[in-house]
Amino acid sequence: TGGLITLDPGYKNTGSCKSAITFLNGEEGILRYRGYSIEELADKASFLEVAYLLIFGELPTQEQLDKLYKDIKKESHVDEEMKKILDGFPKSAHPMGVLSSLTSALIAFNPSAVNVESDEEMYNAIIKLLAKFPVLVAWTLRKKNGQPLDYGDSSLDYVDNILKMMFKSPHEEHYDIDPVVSSALNKLLILHADHEQNCSTSTVRIVGSSHAGLFASISAGISALWGPLHGGANQAVIEMLENIKEDGGDTKKYMGKAKDKEDPFRLMGFGHRVYKNFDPRAKIIKKSADQVLDQLGVEDPVLDIAKGLEKEALEDSYFVDRKLYPNVDFYSGIIYRALGIPTEMFTVMFALGRLPGWIAQWREMRLEKEPIGRPRQVYTGENLRDFKDISKR
Ligand code: SDX
Repeated sequence: TGGLITLDPGYKNTGSCKSAITFLNGEEGILRYRGYSIEELADKASFLEVAYLLIFGELPTQEQLDKLYKDIKKESHVDEEMKKILDGFPKSAHPMGVLSSLTSALIAFNPSAVNVESDEEMYNAIIKLLAKFPVLVAWTLRKKNGQPLDYGDSSLDYVDNILKMMFKSPHEEHYDIDPVVSSALNKLLILHADHEQNCSTSTVRIVGSSHAGLFASISAGISALWGPLHGGANQAVIEMLENIKEDGGDTKKYMGKAKDKEDPFRLMGFGHRVYKNFDPRAKIIKKSADQVLDQLGVEDPVLDIAKGLEKEALEDSYFVDRKLYPNVDFYSGIIYRALGIPTEMFTVMFALGRLPGWIAQWREMRLEKEPIGRPRQVYTGENLRDFKDISKR
């Protein structure tokens, strides 16, 4: 009826929440983790430092960071039995489905991480996840590539060890970390680390609010992130850019398709629920894409197509009127590709980056003792009516 709908004030946790973790200003393109600007963190911090900041609220001292990584290394083995679950998937399985299932399977092998009430139990569950999740990410890639699993090297730092588990060939004696690749991945993971109450984070919070446990909540968040309107967009962007390239690079044709209401086509990587000006992460990633491809000596024609599409959209009233600008997913796939990551793994890399943010948001919800989530509705169905026997329907 268009009237102001006031919900019973007694209804808490109706989907919105208070949070002290991440601040966004969509009009001004501001993103801050615990008060620190994304620009500074992306330039100066390590991903593990940012994970500590998001989860525990402060940038760690060297001693705190060393202890965190020491605790993580002690938990970085994944039960050998879990390989049977991995082996059960066909090679064609999408890595996001594999990752969500393996994350949920961790529950069976880590029962102590389910009912966490004390700070110590919560810390242990968080450490287990920070330690084992990157192993599962590497498993999904090696499964896709038909490669034997790699057990990592605890002498490497957190991100470099992930690169080794993902990319070391079984025939190599030693895996040389390329500093350009390491720095680019570190930056990309930081840029994806949290984004307040987006679809997948809200999923983590609402599943966690039933006290289903951290691993179950994260597994649900992975499934939400998979969708092409959310984290799955980074894979959809590259597929779209590839199609435009195959189609002769005619970006104007695709701009026209995006405006054709008869045949709804979305320019993947454009638009955002909150940023109605520019996504600060997209600006940083676009700059980084140029640097990384240059440093790696990679020529990628889809980068030029992406830049052409962005330029046209910024000059097109349909996009300007609807405040449609490139988002975090528009350029990230171009860097992942240059790092040798296959397209189907792009959203898995998004999940790897978002893990600390999901953990931080779950921990905040539990520490705040939030009640079970119960979003409200506006009922638009039938009024009371009498049952009709089937012979009379
Ligand atoms: C992420 O929430 C987060 O923070 C998410 C995220 C995070 O870090 O967690 O930032 C990560 O998910 C980024 C978004 C990735 N998704 C995509 O790139 C998919 C393509 N984008 C869209 O589908 C869309 O822009 C959304 C889903 C991102 C936002 O949708 P909105 O704000 O609900 O916009 P809408 O669907 O209401 O559309 C408003 C208008 C419509 O046109 P009209 O009906 O007014 O004529 O804008 C049009 C839409 O058709 N529109 C687009 C468009 N996005 C919106 N038209 C063409 N291409 C697009 N991409």
